[in-house]
Amino acid sequence: MQRLRPGLELVRLSADEALPYDLFLQADPSRAMIDSYRAGADVFLLREAGHVLGGVIFRVSGMTAEIKNIAVGPKLQGQGIGKLLLHSMIREAGLRGLKTLFIGTGNSSIGQLHLYQRLGFELSEIRRNFFVENYSEPIWENGIECRHMVMLEKTISFPGET
Ligand code: ACO
Repeated sequence: MQRLRPGLELVRLSADEALPYDLFLQADPSRAMIDSYRAGADVFLLREAGHVLGGVIFRVSGMTAEIKNIAVGPKLQGQGIGKLLLHSMIREAGLRGLKTLFIGTGNSSIGQLHLYQRLGFELSEIRRNFFVENYSEPIWENGIECRHMVMLEKTISFPGET
């Protein structure tokens, strides 16, 4: 399990604190969508010396949770921060006694699909045409049109285990 190194802190925003949209818009180009799933969700920011390195929007429903948005600052990507945030959310789900953690990404998000499966998430569902039906502009990544939402899930087997 990865632990936060000294100087890093994972903080939860209170409901009235402003969201760092620039960060979360990297993961989801629609501010309206972000606002819709932020309502009733927990927002965690990973900070170091007052600077935000990355963040997660984590939404609990019954015995399950979903990571609705995860993003790392553009200049900091590829250094293991995303993996650290995901480990922290798996741990958070375990500490809350939840059974399953979901995460969804686009069919064109090759790196994200790699990352989530490396951390033990397994493919669970395809929400066909999700991005076509819910976003006004076409989204392209890696030369592929992002049309479908790929859902992945991870069983949380022991409280606090990652
Ligand atoms: N392309 C290729 N590989 C990638 C990519 C990518 N875009 N992103 C991550 N990886 C791989 C890395 O190679 C690494 O693999 P390895 O452990 O096998 O060597 C692994 O994933 C972990 O990489 P980290 O350095 O921990 O990832 P990072 O700190 O960059 O965070 C994240 C990953 C959150 C996807 C970040 O790149 C980011 O913010 N991207 C833009 C926003 C985004 O796409 N967010 C996710 C959308 S889906 C959702 O929000 C639920």
